[in-house]
Amino acid sequence: MKVFMGMIEKLQIVEGDITQMDVDAIVNAANETLLGGGGVDGAIHWAAGQKLLEECRILGGCATGNAKMTAGYELKARYVIHTPGPVWRDGTVNEEPLLASCYRRCLEIAEEHQLKTIAFPAIGTGVYRFPKKRAAEIAVTTVTDSLRKLPGIETVTFVCFNEESANAHRAALDAICAEPSSL
Ligand code: APR
Repeated sequence: MKVFMGMIEKLQIVEGDITQMDVDAIVNAANETLLGGGGVDGAIHWAAGQKLLEECRILGGCATGNAKMTAGYELKARYVIHTPGPVWRDGTVNEEPLLASCYRRCLEIAEEHQLKTIAFPAIGTGVYRFPKKRAAEIAVTTVTDSLRKLPGIETVTFVCFNEESANAHRAALDAICAEPSSL
């Protein structure tokens, strides 16, 4: 469990507004245009200011499951890592691996830029209707698996906008802590 606990100690689950997080990077649950939207995308663009959209405009979009980084501008976070999650259909069109890829690619980009602290919203679970419990399981599992290979990341915070989402992430974390394979 020792190695695994090393990963678990790097994870935090909080309820709150991700735009208020004072971390190296916050993750934006974007769409493929990267030109803003509602939900957390709208909140981040609102808090970051117009310059964020101006930088996003020159990125040429981003494929679902991939991620691209910009400055954070007026946010407390120094950077924003934008990642389009999958639109939930019925679980048969690669939604799960694409959601996992969102988390993995954001962490890889953070490591590439020597970032140490990163905060994620519950990607895909709002407008894109990804089932919250399953999304939380994918988020926590993918992040712990990725952290084993990305030693530079010190803290990953799941910033949940409501109690249901936070409880789903806590349950997912409890479940992997209980797995014999994590010993
Ligand atoms: N801080 C943290 N979490 C937030 C915030 C916030 N300020 N605002 C919303 N959330 C939560 C939602 O409650 C949900 O749990 O973020 C999660 C993701 O929901 P959405 O923002 O709707 O993102 P998603 O489901 O991935 O849909 C993306 O919505 O806003 C558009 O442009 C975006 O087209 C894209 C789509």
